[in-house]
Amino acid sequence: MSATVLVGSQWGDEGKGKIVDILSEKYKIVARYQGGANAGHTVIIGDKQHILHLIPSGILRDDVICVIGNGVVIDPSALLEEIEILEKNGINVEGRLYISHNAHLIMPYHKLLDSISESGEQKIGTTGRGIGPCYIDKFARKGIRIVDLLDRAELEKKIRANLKEKNELLKKVYEHEGLDVDSIVKDYLEFDKAIDKYIKDVPAFLNQALNEGKSILLEGAQGTLLDIDHGTYPFVTSSSPTSGGACTGTGIPPTKIDSVIGIVKAYTTRVGNGPFPTELLNEEGEKLRKIGAEFGATTGRPRRCGWYDAFLVAYSQMVNGITSVAITKLDVLSGFEKINVCIGYELNGKRLKSYPSSVDQLSSVTPIYEELDGWDEDISNCLSYDELPAKTKEYLEFIAKHSGIKIDIISVGPKRKQTFFV
Ligand code: GDP
Ligand code: IMO
Ligand code: MG
Repeated sequence: MSATVLVGSQWGDEGKGKIVDILSEKYKIVARYQGGANAGHTVIIGDKQHILHLIPSGILRDDVICVIGNGVVIDPSALLEEIEILEKNGINVEGRLYISHNAHLIMPYHKLLDSISESGEQKIGTTGRGIGPCYIDKFARKGIRIVDLLDRAELEKKIRANLKEKNELLKKVYEHEGLDVDSIVKDYLEFDKAIDKYIKDVPAFLNQALNEGKSILLEGAQGTLLDIDHGTYPFVTSSSPTSGGACTGTGIPPTKIDSVIGIVKAYTTRVGNGPFPTELLNEEGEKLRKIGAEFGATTGRPRRCGWYDAFLVAYSQMVNGITSVAITKLDVLSGFEKINVCIGYELNGKRLKSYPSSVDQLSSVTPIYEELDGWDEDISNCLSYDELPAKTKEYLEFIAKHSGIKIDIISVGPKRKQTFFV
């Protein structure tokens, strides 16, 4: 057995949570490999909606073990709140949730610095969860990790040293009064007690599981175009949602990954700032937002909506090595008389051969559209590919061809049963 990576192929919110929940029926272990509580992964079971931020979306199946890898940045208060909400809903995580001892902790000063930097000139439109500042400390080798919770004296020393520096920065640069050191030390010493039982040597655990023939699904958060290296920099998140991040974020070697599933929304959305060539700033965009209920699962912000961008998905296919695709939210396109699909970009009258890495260029491109006929039928009760209207099939074939993808799963609604394999 080997591991499968599941990635968001656009700007996040493609429906990863729903597809992880469906697929986790066939996996023993689901592991998150990057990001933090900036993610909001929705799973609907019966009439109940669950939104997972840090805990893998496999947690709703009681025979699945869930792992938070070293690549994830963990806000302990968000984690404990999530565990509490799950337990209130009758989902017990004990004995089947593990956290890597190498994962970094989000501290109150990370959240504060996130909001301060968003009040400056360059507004990324972050989720405000402290993600960027926490990864900055990780790479500056000043981060506090889960393993640090195990040595109380050392933990206190590290928090005090970090706060000394952060408080100077807050006071001298940002004219902020600074944070209270003692209360933060107290809170994090408390978290230690609550989190202790979940801590695990994750690389050893996951590799042993693979050696025993167990299957592992690696759940990405965010999306390819939000990747720190491959996304629309600087309007990105601070981690590696692309498939490469799955190895560094868990300790599973590339030789043990045998497939990469790309989650692709049947149109495009983006939350936060940054270029979005196929964005629809008109009634059609409003219609997509309304029918698709496109509001952030973490922040509640309205998502920007636009046509499907095959040039973008082809790029995503390339950098992730996507081997199969789940198309989501196809039902949302019912009732559009005509549907546009972007098949390339033009810049200064020339067609681009590759996806632009300059944000200025990407902001200036003109999408090249092909107009397709829409369909009127409600497809949300379709149970197989054959049941889809002819125009819907044409749409799927067209986007698959122009994106260079193979569609294996189709989702026509938020519920488990509104999904079928092609
Ligand atoms: P994620 O971050 O990639 O897990 O996606 P989100 O949960 O943030 O956003 C996806 C939203 O679309 C959620 O509200 C899902 O319940 C919903 N959803 C998922 N698949 C479908 C689908 O096929 N059709 C419709 N109408 N909604 C879907
Ligand atoms: P899931 O996993 C969509 C966006 C933010 C912002 C940028 C940086 O649910 O798909 P950050 O707080 O990470 O520093 O914000 O990234 N963003 C997401 N957009 N879905 C997400 O997660 C996102 N997580 C972060 O809106 O533009
Ligand atoms: Mg989401």
